[in-house]
Amino acid sequence: MTDLSRSALDIEDLRRMARRRLTKGIFGFIDHGSEDDIALRHNRAALERIRLRARVLVDVSKRDPAITLFGKRQRLPIIVAPTGPAGYVWYRGETVIAKAAARAGVPFTLASTSNTPMEQIFADGGGRQWFQLYVWKNLESSVETVLRARDAGFEALVLTVDSIVYYNRRWDIENGMVFPVRMTPKVVLDALLHPRWLIGTMGRYVLAEGGLPRYVNIPVLDDTPLAEARSHLVKNDTMTWDFVKRIREIWPRTLILKGLQHPADALKAADCGVDGVIISNHGGIASDGALAPIDALPSFVAAAKDRITLIVDSGFRRGSEVLKAMALGADAVMVGRAPLYGAAAAGEAGAYRALEILEAEITRTMAILGTPTIADLSREHVLLASEMG
Ligand SMILES: Cc1cc2nc3c(=O)[nH]c(=O)nc-3n(C[C@H](O)[C@H](O)[C@H](O)COP(=O)(O)O)c2cc1C
Repeated sequence: MTDLSRSALDIEDLRRMARRRLTKGIFGFIDHGSEDDIALRHNRAALERIRLRARVLVDVSKRDPAITLFGKRQRLPIIVAPTGPAGYVWYRGETVIAKAAARAGVPFTLASTSNTPMEQIFADGGGRQWFQLYVWKNLESSVETVLRARDAGFEALVLTVDSIVYYNRRWDIENGMVFPVRMTPKVVLDALLHPRWLIGTMGRYVLAEGGLPRYVNIPVLDDTPLAEARSHLVKNDTMTWDFVKRIREIWPRTLILKGLQHPADALKAADCGVDGVIISNHGGIASDGALAPIDALPSFVAAAKDRITLIVDSGFRRGSEVLKAMALGADAVMVGRAPLYGAAAAGEAGAYRALEILEAEITRTMAILGTPTIADLSREHVLLASEMG
């Protein structure tokens, strides 16, 4: 089969391909933020506002975008973020994205709400894999999941702390993407109008696995059909720093908190023995009033860079934007939708295409900036809106 994603020139092209292939309901689910999409737009606007400033007449004939993160070398300053619905956009979507990340030489983060057993994704996906944890109503079941991820071999645990209540997402309600999904005429028509997705993704689950995708990595939900499962996914709104300390005791490898917006919380995380934090507003999904993480980054760098690893995400669509974050002092950037759109458009090849596009944009911009390595980037290469006069 021809790989359509080869013709994508940028992440926006992959997004358009994803929109054509997916149902309106699923595309809306991955593309929108919450409420009025204000945080989603702010994430983009904040990245666009920052300007790059080149230094010239540097030999940039050999460029290397590699970084060392948590003591390990990786080919790009990127990590693939956890996205729950990867398995709905493509058959075994988590595995195909993990494979693409392995090929691109970057870590992949598996979401708690994935639809294939974590051990199988770990084995089939290869490369370096991290596991993301949502803390469910039953805290003990979350602890069981941590132990299972530890035994499976995941190299880092990402504890998401910004997702304690369900998001306010009107598009999902309008499109019938409310769990349990009811087979209303609108939902059925939407599926029938997208036969490539219906047959290629849902059809394959039914044929190969005898039914629709299930949440198989949350102990209490083992074997619960997707349609019923979501209603049980009540998150835990009692979680505090004590839980972080408890997880620190049982997780022997790299521990990362995801979803921080205030630098004081990064210092608290460091006090709890956490190795890294992800400055994030969940890609504009958690709160529509949230500040853009790239705007928060300088305050984290000032307060906590010497104590904890700083990763940032939300809104990154261009390699040049990744470099803006790196120049501002981030240790790495996470990308969620970019590889997810790619996977939705063309499976593993599409997810890889997304990372390949970002890599090409990164190395080209490094040449323009006069920075042959990531370590050459510094604060002098970026201007914030407040500095432009
Ligand atoms: C469709 C979708 C599903 C997501 N699912 C999860 C998840 O299960 N766990 C989590 O910690 N973050 C989740 N996120 C947030 C991402 O990990 C990441 O923070 C966000 O996508 C970054 O923004 P970007 O998509 O603009 O790159 C999800 C994001 C999207 C778009």
